[in-house]
Amino acid sequence: MRIDIISAVPELLSGPFNSSIIKKSIENNITEIHIHNLREYAKNNYKSVDDYQYGGGAGMVMLIEPIDKCISKLKIERDYDEIIFMTPDGSKLNQSVSNKLSCMTNIIILCGHYKGIDQRIRDNLITMEISIGDYVLTGGELPAAILTDSIVRLIPGALGDETSALTDSFQDNLLSYPLYTRPKEYKSWQVPDILFSGDHKRIEKWRMEKSVEITRKKRPDLL
Ligand code: ADE
Repeated sequence: MRIDIISAVPELLSGPFNSSIIKKSIENNITEIHIHNLREYAKNNYKSVDDYQYGGGAGMVMLIEPIDKCISKLKIERDYDEIIFMTPDGSKLNQSVSNKLSCMTNIIILCGHYKGIDQRIRDNLITMEISIGDYVLTGGELPAAILTDSIVRLIPGALGDETSALTDSFQDNLLSYPLYTRPKEYKSWQVPDILFSGDHKRIEKWRMEKSVEITRKKRPDLL
């Protein structure tokens, strides 16, 4: 899968993809992530990518032209399944959206900055608008990194253990069962006996019951 991220502040995106699972999936050619600096598509010498808004009001608006030029260049090179704009007024990201996006071949993620982007970009170029939650961040870069992380870990081969993503919280609308590892006893804190029973059927049943119990307690809206 190929993910192209367009940003006016690409420095913000240099960190998240340089370690752990995402880095490995890039090294193993499972994922390609390309970051595009919007300023390279700016027209004037100041490399500006924003301007005052028509009608007055505080806050700058991102210009159409650099964004259109960047997206058009990418679209000449390959077809894209979705062109996503990260925005707090988009539809809320959840596991099912990430699952769907992880099955795609090429996507573009546009990060907003400043007050917002010219509406005509949204009307004519964007195919999907995603929010990571009901709060406003300085820009779409961190949301884009979150979206990318949630997608990449679902691509087969990205996680070492193939089944690992399938048993994540939310994968079947249930939160995860509790996890334990060594030591068997720490201070007087115990691991539930059933996990040492060797009876995989019973363990699976226990885990399912725990998942339901935890979901009912913490997120009854999911049930
Ligand atoms: N840009 C700023 N805040 C955002 C949010 N909550 N989700 C997506 N993009 C954003």
